[in-house]
Amino acid sequence: MRKPVVMGNWKLNGTKKSVTELVQAFVAPANQAATLVDVAVCAPAVFIGTVEFNAAGSRLQWGSEDCDVHTQGAFTGENSPVMLKEFGCTYAIVGHSERRQYHNESNECVAAKFKAAQDNGLTPVLCIGETEAEYDAGKTIEVCKAEIQAVIDLCGIEAFNNAIIAYEPIWAIGTGKTATPEIAQNVHHQIREFLKEANAEVAQGVRILYGGSCNAKNAAGLFCQEDIDGGLIGGASLKAPDFTAIIEAAVANAK
Ligand code: 13P
Repeated sequence: MRKPVVMGNWKLNGTKKSVTELVQAFVAPANQAATLVDVAVCAPAVFIGTVEFNAAGSRLQWGSEDCDVHTQGAFTGENSPVMLKEFGCTYAIVGHSERRQYHNESNECVAAKFKAAQDNGLTPVLCIGETEAEYDAGKTIEVCKAEIQAVIDLCGIEAFNNAIIAYEPIWAIGTGKTATPEIAQNVHHQIREFLKEANAEVAQGVRILYGGSCNAKNAAGLFCQEDIDGGLIGGASLKAPDFTAIIEAAVANAK
């Protein structure tokens, strides 16, 4: 059995006050969910200390939205996986489409970040997914496979024993255009089948989250799909009632 994960990705949002309030609001639902569902928030690096301060001792987990490939040195502006670990991060998102798009991160660069995160005790959350044009051209699985293959080439298939994959169709991110449960399930299934070609056991165990306009209304329909193991939530994770409802949807489905 795969334990579902409900993970917020706050992107470039928040203030000290809003971060404190959100974390305080999520501690109780995360504690209640913890035996059935992992609950986490990924915050801008500057707020991770605030998250740690307010979540310490609870079952709410946290992570970063990115991480550098280096552990230290002359790399101005970066955040090292060692530093993120020191601030209690469990997870590091790598390869979010916004970083691939706005920071020109290649599949190889993302794979190197995945490796650096994992080598330093963080669980990488590998984001994959196609653009609208690629979707229309029927290239969804081809794109996802290439994004995963770069990690397999660098780290080996066993690396997915301690990693999460987040399928986030770019056309669904922040657009309100969610993939239907059937479309998402179909892609998740094909991703798992692809991993199976390398190692069936790893494929069976890896958690594959859906991301892209997942909200309090559509979460239940997505989470009940066989190959969807939770969600990576953007906008709705910034609203306490909505994110709490999404956690509850995952718990209800896990029971
Ligand atoms: P939205 O939920 O705002 O569409 O964002 C999804 C996402 O990019 C999570 O990483």
